[in-house]
Amino acid sequence: MILVTGAAGFIGANFVLDWLAQLDEPVVNLDKLTYAGNLQSLESLQGDARHAFVHGDIGDRSLVDALLAEHRPRAIVNFAAESHVDRSIHGPEDFIQTNVVGTFHLLEAVRAYWGGLEGAAKADFRFLHVSTDEVYGTLGAGDAPFTETTAYEPNSPYSASKAASDHLVRAYHHTYGLPVLTTNCSNNYGPYHFPEKLIPLMIVNALAGKPLPVYGDGMQIRDWLYVKDHCSAIRRVLEAGRPGETYNVGGWNEKPNIEIVNTVCALLDELSPRADGKPYAGQITYVKDRPGHDRRYAIDANKIHQELGWKPAETFETGIRKTVQWYLDNAAWVAAVQSGDYRNWIGKQYGATA
Ligand code: NAD
Ligand code: DAU
Repeated sequence: MILVTGAAGFIGANFVLDWLAQLDEPVVNLDKLTYAGNLQSLESLQGDARHAFVHGDIGDRSLVDALLAEHRPRAIVNFAAESHVDRSIHGPEDFIQTNVVGTFHLLEAVRAYWGGLEGAAKADFRFLHVSTDEVYGTLGAGDAPFTETTAYEPNSPYSASKAASDHLVRAYHHTYGLPVLTTNCSNNYGPYHFPEKLIPLMIVNALAGKPLPVYGDGMQIRDWLYVKDHCSAIRRVLEAGRPGETYNVGGWNEKPNIEIVNTVCALLDELSPRADGKPYAGQITYVKDRPGHDRRYAIDANKIHQELGWKPAETFETGIRKTVQWYLDNAAWVAAVQSGDYRNWIGKQYGATA
């Protein structure tokens, strides 16, 4: 049994779906169901006894203590976080509360639980913390990609809060010996991605005939990874990563934002052309830049490849085509998110709304 936090969110939901499709090990899913938590993404697990959902906060010490005592997980994967950079600029407090204070309380509960384990259960236990490449700050055009030894230089309230949580995780290993693993991943994309992030926002706005807002000059570079490749990396690190180590995860897919948006538009032109026959790219609108916008991220994923044999299965071309097709095939999921109906669905299924 493993405990996965934040598994009603984008990556966590993909992770649980893949985990249960490939392994027969049950999952307890602890999620606060913020605006980003959507149990409809896990609808296919209804009635599956291997998935137990618990509505709650990673920062709720007594709840986490009780969960650990009841389920006795062999590992914890911590996805729970506030994840959107723009929201962190607008209102940083929730980011500090969940990403820093919440992670601290979770670590304290896990330290107490792990301290009470014995023998193989104690030796084999793992706490895997899911983090981001944004903790490393920004790169210039000619700089080498981030490695695991690149200094932390977070620039947004989001990345600063994730950096703080990474430091706490590291400290719990060095001070208390907690067997932790940290992964720092680049930009994910794929199914169940909340349409506030670049790729899903461009798809849903394009189909709705709305403007496609590109920040600044659109030449900021991100390194894109299909979400299921991130999930396979986490499974591999959990299986064979060395406690106390960090692993960078990336797709070797550096692309400027404007190229991403043009690719999405071209795929939509092919798969779901506009009624008037005009190209979706005509909807692109350059808008004011994000404050403190990092110019370039790039991940050197050699360590996880050489040490653990992990590499992504998808190229950007195959992954983005699957993603656009998924949004076209799942208009009901998008509509429920946009109308807020997914909150009602949560209430109906679980008798509670956040
Ligand atoms: P998301 O915003 O889609 O989902 C976050 C989930 O965490 C939601 O279900 C939310 O309800 C839950 N949550 C928030 N606060 C909580 C709390 N206090 N207690 C319990 N649950 C809580 O995020 P995501 O994109 O799936 O990202 C998951 C993790 O991966 C985050 O830690 C993020 O920093 C990291 N990450 C994301 C990316 C990316 O491209 N999306 C890349 C690298 C790392
Ligand atoms: O690098 C990993 C990070 O990737 C994760 O840690 C974060 O949780 C995740 O949200 C993501 O952060 P970004 O800020 O890179 O993602 P976002 O989709 O918000 O933006 C991607 C790029 O596109 C960024 O340079 C800003 C730009 N952008 C974004 C939006 C939403 C636009 O130009 N227009 C937009 O409307």
